[in-house]
Amino acid sequence: MGLNASLCLFSLTFLLVFFSTVITADNITQAFEKYSNFSTMNDLLIKTKLTIPISKYLTITLLAVSNEAITPIINRSDVELKNILMNHVILDYYDEMKFNGMKEKSIMLTTLYQTTGLGEEMNGFLNCTKSKGRVYFGSGVKVSPLVAEYVKALYHNPYNMSIVQISMPIVAPGLSLAIFPPPPPPAPPAPAPSPMNAAKAPGPRPADEDNASDTDVPKDTPATETAEVDSPAPTPSADNEKIEAADKAGTSSFACKAGLSFDVVLLLLLFGSFAGL
Ligand SMILES: *[C@@H]1O[C@H](CO)[C@@H](O)[C@H](O)[C@H]1NC(C)=O
Ligand SMILES: *[C@@H]1O[C@H](CO)[C@@H](O)[C@H](O)[C@H]1NC(C)=O
Ligand SMILES: *[C@@H]1O[C@H](CO)[C@@H](O)[C@H](O)[C@H]1NC(C)=O
Ligand SMILES: *[C@@H]1O[C@H](CO)[C@@H](O)[C@H](O)[C@H]1NC(C)=O
Ligand SMILES: *[C@@H]1O[C@H](CO)[C@@H](O)[C@H](O)[C@H]1NC(C)=O
Ligand SMILES: *[C@@H]1O[C@H](CO)[C@@H](O)[C@H](O)[C@H]1NC(C)=O
Repeated sequence: MGLNASLCLFSLTFLLVFFSTVITADNITQAFEKYSNFSTMNDLLIKTKLTIPISKYLTITLLAVSNEAITPIINRSDVELKNILMNHVILDYYDEMKFNGMKEKSIMLTTLYQTTGLGEEMNGFLNCTKSKGRVYFGSGVKVSPLVAEYVKALYHNPYNMSIVQISMPIVAPGLSLAIFPPPPPPAPPAPAPSPMNAAKAPGPRPADEDNASDTDVPKDTPATETAEVDSPAPTPSADNEKIEAADKAGTSSFACKAGLSFDVVLLLLLFGSFAGL
C-alpha cells in the first residue's frame, strides 16, 4: 500500500511538472497586440479571462473578428460572451496553408467550448466547409447556417498558434441570440435552391458559374451531398480519440485518488489505534 501511495504521489508530481512545463505556449494577448482592428476581441478575451485556458494549449487557432464585425455581441452577458468566444478557439492548428490546401468538403472542428462539458448537439464544434475555393464556418449544430467566411491570416507561429480573421462572429444555438449575416451576404452556398437551378437550366446562372466549370453544371449538389455523406464519419474519429484520452486520464486519476484516500484511511486507522493504546 505504501508503495502504491508513493507511486501515486510520484505520478501526481510528474503530471504537475509536465503540465507546468506545457504552459509555455504563445501569449495570445501579445500576438494580438499589433492588430489594432482586433483590439475589441483582444479586450473581450481578457475580460472573460479566456486568455488563461488559451495559454494552456500548445496548438490552437483563434478565429478573430474585427472591431466592426464584433459589435453585435459586445453587449451580451458575460456568460454568453464567454461561451461565444470559446466557440472561436479551435483546439487544433489551422493556418492559411491548411485552409488553402483543404479539400472541398466539410470538417468538424473542436472548440474550447467543448471542453466545458456543457456542449449540446455539437454546439462545441464548428462546421468548416470549403466550397468553390472559399472557406465558410458555422456552428456544428445540424442545419446551422455557415455564417462566417475565412478572410485572411493574421498571425501564426507554425504548429502552435494561428490567428485568422473570419467575417463575423458565430453564435451557436443555445449559447445566445443568433446573429445573421448582413443583408448583402458574401456568397454563402445556398443548398436549397441548387437542385431547382440544376434541373431547370444551366443557362440562367450568372457568369460566375460558367467560369468555375462548364463541364459539371450540377456541381453544387454532389459537392454538398458528398460532404454530408463523409462528414459525419471524420467528426467522431479524430475527436473521439481526444475524448477517449480525456476519459482515460479521468479514470486513471480517479483510480489514483481512490488508492490515495484508501491509504489515508489506513494511515488514520493506524494512528487511531496508536492513540487508543
Ligand atoms: C510548439 O508545439 C510543440 C509541440 O506541438 C512544442 O514542442 C513546442 O514547445 C511549442 N512551442 C512553443 C513556443 O510553445
Ligand atoms: C501575456 O502578456 C500580457 C501582456 O504582455 C500579460 O499581461 C499576460 O500576463 C501574459 N499572459 C500569459 C498567460 O503569460
Ligand atoms: C482596419 O480597418 C480599417 C477600416 O475598417 C481599414 O481601412 C484598415 O485597412 C484596417 N487595417 C488593417 C491593418 O487591416
Ligand atoms: C452597448 O451598451 C453601451 C452602453 O450600455 C451602448 O453605449 C452601446 O451603444 C451598446 N452597443 C451596442 C452594439 O449595442
Ligand atoms: C473568372 O473569374 C475570374 C476571377 O474570379 C474573373 O477575373 C474572370 O473575369 C472570370 N471569367 C469569366 C469568363 O467569367
Ligand atoms: C456543414 O454545413 C454544410 C452546409 O450547411 C452541410 O452541407 C454539411 O452537412 C455540414 N456538415 C456536417 C458534418 O454537419
